[in-house]
Amino acid sequence: MGDAALKNDAPKKKTGGLAGIVAGETEISAAGGAHNLEYRGYSIYDLAEHATFEEVAYLLVYGYLPKQAELDGYKNKLRALRDIPQSLKEVLERIPRDAHPMDVMRTATSFLGNVEPEGDDNCQEAITDRLIAAYPAILVYWWHFAQTGQRHDCVTDADTLAEHFLTLLHRGKPSDLHIKAMNVSLILYAEHEFNASTFTARTIASTLSDFYSAVTGAIGALRGPLHGGANEAAMELIRKFDTAEAATAGVKEMLATKQLVMGFGHRVYSEADPRNKVIKEWSRRLCEEGGKPELFAVSEAIETLMWDEKHLFPNLDFYSASTYHMMAIPTPMFTPIFVMSRITGWAAHIFEQRKNNKLIRPSADYTGPEKLDYVPIEAR
Ligand code: COA
Repeated sequence: MGDAALKNDAPKKKTGGLAGIVAGETEISAAGGAHNLEYRGYSIYDLAEHATFEEVAYLLVYGYLPKQAELDGYKNKLRALRDIPQSLKEVLERIPRDAHPMDVMRTATSFLGNVEPEGDDNCQEAITDRLIAAYPAILVYWWHFAQTGQRHDCVTDADTLAEHFLTLLHRGKPSDLHIKAMNVSLILYAEHEFNASTFTARTIASTLSDFYSAVTGAIGALRGPLHGGANEAAMELIRKFDTAEAATAGVKEMLATKQLVMGFGHRVYSEADPRNKVIKEWSRRLCEEGGKPELFAVSEAIETLMWDEKHLFPNLDFYSASTYHMMAIPTPMFTPIFVMSRITGWAAHIFEQRKNNKLIRPSADYTGPEKLDYVPIEAR
């Protein structure tokens, strides 16, 4: 990563949260401006409309859209990697029922780093494929065991990751509509330039640390409600209201008391999140098909109010919440689904960082006291 913008002699300006700072170059995705959002030059609209998540994963991890034979081979490879080691199942069984599933994802990633460590016979691409394939089982194995004490199978014969995850979770074949919606959601969540978790992964990779450490750190960054955790927080908000009117009044009150409304706003976009219009249509479709039009109406009322009052727009997390809810996915699983998808983007960035590595280590303006006399402990 070129880090010219972070050098000591860079122009001094207020850079709270590094907003507006270009912290390096990437070939992996472009967000904002005329790009809207593109993965390696391909519009997310085309990918969401025509591709499967596996194609997008291949694009991000291996650098180009696969030919049919390559995609078939890749899907077979991922299918063969779905099961998880017995030792990991035992670890998962010890994680308390009331743990947050993001902590389960973080612990499982870290544990896998012990039993399948990165090394000569386990390269970064192989680990990426392994994590993509194993995350659904990790999440759902723990979930079922924690809820019921039962040990369920981690493998299915599902064709895609979207179908595999929903099949494991609901212990039955999902509808084609739900498979498609999940597939689109995984595509939209896959990659997003130098977001906080990706930057975390790159920072860790830049110290020449191992792949699992970079991903474990990224999961920690994603967990917070200002980042990936916003989709869960959005659901908690939406479910409070039965009607559009109640939602408008309730969110107005939140704004009056200066509360953040999760699922709105974005650091990179100022007028709209390009992913929103895709996921919003899926939310509309699933709410209508599932007989819960009021859930969509509540969401839209909040969107209208946020725009009218604050000129803030929904980001990908907002309508993802109702979309997942309509697939009967428990709310605490929303951010872990983000992990299942974003592992592809994180991996691509870790590879890119390693290819042209430079330690990421910015500087700070010191604002504390200076030249104090040391006071012996007994005199303080
Ligand atoms: N709800 C209410 N007010 C919001 C808001 C939200 N979701 N997002 C931004 N604002 C307000 C801020 O309070 C701030 O107001 P102020 O100028 O009166 O202090 C103003 O809009 C500018 O926001 P700021 O926090 O400086 O923008 P940022 O670039 O630092 O933050 C986010 C970007 C995403 C962290 C921020 O929009 C946010 O907290 N959103 C909610 C969490 C979320 O959905 N995260 C997922 C992102 S994909």
